[in-house]
Amino acid sequence: MGEQEYLDHTIAFVKASLENAEAGHDWFHIERVYRLAITIAKEEGADLFVVSLGSLLHDIADSKFHDGDEEIGPKTAGEFLTSLGLEQKIVDEVVDIVAGISFKNSLKKNTLLRRSLEFKVVQDADRLDAIGAIGIARAFNYGGYKNRPFYDPAIAPEQHMSKEKYKLAKSPTINHFYEKLLLLKDQMNTGTGKRMAENRHQYMLGFLDQFFSEWEGKS
Ligand code: ADP
Ligand code: NI
Repeated sequence: MGEQEYLDHTIAFVKASLENAEAGHDWFHIERVYRLAITIAKEEGADLFVVSLGSLLHDIADSKFHDGDEEIGPKTAGEFLTSLGLEQKIVDEVVDIVAGISFKNSLKKNTLLRRSLEFKVVQDADRLDAIGAIGIARAFNYGGYKNRPFYDPAIAPEQHMSKEKYKLAKSPTINHFYEKLLLLKDQMNTGTGKRMAENRHQYMLGFLDQFFSEWEGKS
């Protein structure tokens, strides 16, 4: 099989597995991350094939939707690629990417994993899709899905909340900007990612200014 054929099979597999996903994590999220990742990979000189497979598979079997099981994403990705007959070295590199994205909270996050350039590229692309205009849309979509208020002036944003508290909190969606989204631009791994994040970051700041202005009954 040539590289394009592997990619076509992977796209079909990912599309089928995300058929009923909510809007923040649907096929279009994957497609945007895939495009972003290729753009960044070209600038950074990363391996395009590994980055392509990693970005396509990065949210496969997301632990959020599998009772917190962080192993299932990398396992699913690895079994799928092996079933296509892809060489083991490439399978391993892609599985490392999916694992790095999946292990959100566990110790494994900092210990076991190799952080390849290809991983850094895919992580930057995933983070870019959480900020800017798309990031705003995703945040409010998620808030709606969780039935959270847009904003409540009585509830201040809180950083470094414990995981338990975070789950219980009815944190308004606007708070998510201060708790996470506005911090992402300083967490970008690559120079290209940093540059791309700047634009999107400024756009969110403008949005927040306008939001609070309208909240106060101004123009
Ligand atoms: P991914 O798995 O793609 O890295 P997440 O699962 O962390 O992203 O979140 C998916 C989307 O939902 C993101 O755009 C994120 O900003 C948004 N989101 C996550 N938690 C919240 C929250 N508490 N309030 C609003 N939006 C959120
Ligand atoms: Ni994602």
